Amino acid sequence: MRQTRGRDRNTIILYINGERHEVGGEQVFLPVTDYLRYGIGRTGTKVVCAEGDCGACTVLLGRLGNGEIGYKPVNACIQYIYQLDGMHLITVEGLKINGELNPVQEAMITCHGAQCGYCTPGMVVAMCGLMQENLCSQAPRPATSQEVREALTGNLCRCTGYESILNAGAAVNPVEMPSLQALYPSVEMAGELEKCAGETVCIEADDRLFLNPVSIEEAVGFKAEYPNLTIINGGTDVSVFCNKRGFEPPVLMSLSKLPDLDRVEILDGWISVGARASLVQLERSIEDIYPELHRMLNVFGSPQIKHAGTLSGNIANGSPIGDTLPFLFVTDSEVEVTGVSGTRRISMNHLYTGYKTLDMRPDEMITCVWIPMPRPDETLRLYKVSRRKHLDISTFTAAVRMQKSGDDIEDIRIAYGGVGPTVLRLPKTEAFLNGSRFSEANFREAGKIARSEITPISDVRGLQDYRFQLAENILLKFYTELKITGQEVRV
Ligand code: FES
Ligand code: FES
Repeated sequence: MRQTRGRDRNTIILYINGERHEVGGEQVFLPVTDYLRYGIGRTGTKVVCAEGDCGACTVLLGRLGNGEIGYKPVNACIQYIYQLDGMHLITVEGLKINGELNPVQEAMITCHGAQCGYCTPGMVVAMCGLMQENLCSQAPRPATSQEVREALTGNLCRCTGYESILNAGAAVNPVEMPSLQALYPSVEMAGELEKCAGETVCIEADDRLFLNPVSIEEAVGFKAEYPNLTIINGGTDVSVFCNKRGFEPPVLMSLSKLPDLDRVEILDGWISVGARASLVQLERSIEDIYPELHRMLNVFGSPQIKHAGTLSGNIANGSPIGDTLPFLFVTDSEVEVTGVSGTRRISMNHLYTGYKTLDMRPDEMITCVWIPMPRPDETLRLYKVSRRKHLDISTFTAAVRMQKSGDDIEDIRIAYGGVGPTVLRLPKTEAFLNGSRFSEANFREAGKIARSEITPISDVRGLQDYRFQLAENILLKFYTELKITGQEVRV
């Protein structure tokens, strides 16, 4: 194990409801919910699923940015203490105003939305997050029923009493809520969080090592020193493995302090998505550029998951049913990786060499994803087949990107997920359709060819035959949708 360098801090400094906590040793490797409930007796935050699916553990996570702490809802059950250096966590206990219930809590009582003690705290925190966001907007106003619904997509009520909860959310006027910055105005806290952002953290305890570098050079150096270290970003995947499968990575490295990797920008005809940029940032940035991707991200996960999860995490995970991957394949997006010998870009179409294996050197890590801007005359459709529409693991995914010339297909790219060890492009099917007429007969025939290019298996989400049929039918669906709606250009 590594000898801790003298200049590195060996504790995690975070604030919880405005109180300073300095955590060291084994406690650093605890889920935040365990620390809250068993460590400091803050039992308002509940744990039910422990995998980010139900929202009972919702907290607001504050990070310093542009001189102010911005707060986002996340699932505390899949955040670990080591992820929170230099952050301010607000739990349901910290949302009272001068010891009294806040307007969201009052509305939950008045509208009969406060039902059981498992779900209600998480719902209150998620709605306070929505009010806070609304307050920070140009013209604060009561949330619409749809906005409350969206904010609560990650909060499960098992007794089906949503109506009264939605009514409570819509009844609150956000201007009656103090902003969280006003509730926690501590200059001292903000000053310390800023100081933390510039301090490397290196903690060794219980045969485990946690690293929190402050520059890409330092991060790459750590990666070279520990090629098998586990990179943690939002933790929406790794932490579920830790909670459910007893995974205990011996060496972990968080990217939370790496500067400039938290941006989504448009540069020279590309959308550049930093490795730390959240899926919410991506969703908001591409709404007008790639509405199909925006639609996909809307059903991808709850706000709590999307505020923590990242596009680079979806890529690094390498699952053949990663929801964003078929899009990245057909758009010829590129992944920027950085290692000790510099930076290079790899086409998404060449990144995977097998099931969850990436063509990257041991010292390299993903630092950015580059998505080309769409061409004005191309059509893009994304498909996700799952048992439930929202927040479900896909059985099958597909992306089709097409350019036509008159009635003929000039260029078509097709990628499928869930039918092989990696997301797959379908070269034979594409070759058949390229230059062909845009006709039902050709798409029917293409579906048959598509069957020959995939190797699906049966698993809990679907049988092999079902996936073969989906692979065939989706191309006919693509043709029919375009023919019926006439909406050929929707990227
Ligand atoms: Fe269900 Fe955390 S306990 S999301
Ligand atoms: Fe908990 Fe409905 S509020 S089950």
